[in-house]
Amino acid sequence: MGKVAAIVLIGLFCFTGCSMTQTIPEPESHGAKLYLKKCTQCHGLPGPKRHTPEQWDQLLVLMSGFMKERGLPFSADEKKLIQDYLHRNAR
Ligand code: HEC
Repeated sequence: MGKVAAIVLIGLFCFTGCSMTQTIPEPESHGAKLYLKKCTQCHGLPGPKRHTPEQWDQLLVLMSGFMKERGLPFSADEKKLIQDYLHRNAR
């Protein structure tokens, strides 16, 4: 592997990997685990403090639409747990 490829690889790993290691509130809770699992499938994890509860409600509707398009499962129960988690830790 060439030097450039290695640098690109490290960069990519950080792009996807760094956000995974960020600390989020209540890391041991069911909601936080589900949030980590479900909401990192397409992009890095947005911190719960980035939005207000009302904004999260709208975003969740949008995101479930994206997941449906991609055929990714997202049940009503899972959505509820993530929603509760985000509401508890929102801005
Ligand atoms: C199927 C892929 C997919 C999944 C899974 C997904 N998202 Fe997204 N998300 C997107 C896309 C695509 C955008 C960019 C939309 C845009 O900018 O209009 C986005 C943008 C966002 C944004 C706005 C940009 C930002 O960084 O502030 C937030 C917040 C967000 N997603 C939260 C979530 C949450 C919470 C979940 C889990 C419930 C989630 N996403 C799961 C596809 C996804």
